[in-house]
Amino acid sequence: MVRIEFVTPSGHIRQVEAQDGETLMQAAVRHQIEGIEAACGGAMSCGTCHAWVLTPWNEYIAAPQPDEREILDFGVHIRADSRLTCQIKVSSALEGARIEVPPSQS
Ligand code: FES
Repeated sequence: MVRIEFVTPSGHIRQVEAQDGETLMQAAVRHQIEGIEAACGGAMSCGTCHAWVLTPWNEYIAAPQPDEREILDFGVHIRADSRLTCQIKVSSALEGARIEVPPSQS
């Protein structure tokens, strides 16, 4: 298990236990994290799993691939640390990671 901290759009901090190998999106949905809709179920076509992966944890994961960047280009509240959580596999490198959910997904 990997401990992940989500900051919701309403400012609540939720600590969850994520399973090694699942995606951050799956962990968020399983724990009903506010603001992570994940409408496409991880098919990388909706962009509603967008969140900010804060430093330093965004440095511990692979950079987004071009197709992920393409989806993010159509999003709102996009920042340098924006990611689609369905594209990030949970591993021990993310222990204690803080993930902030933007105020809206559209
Ligand atoms: Fe749809 Fe991530 S769940 S893009």
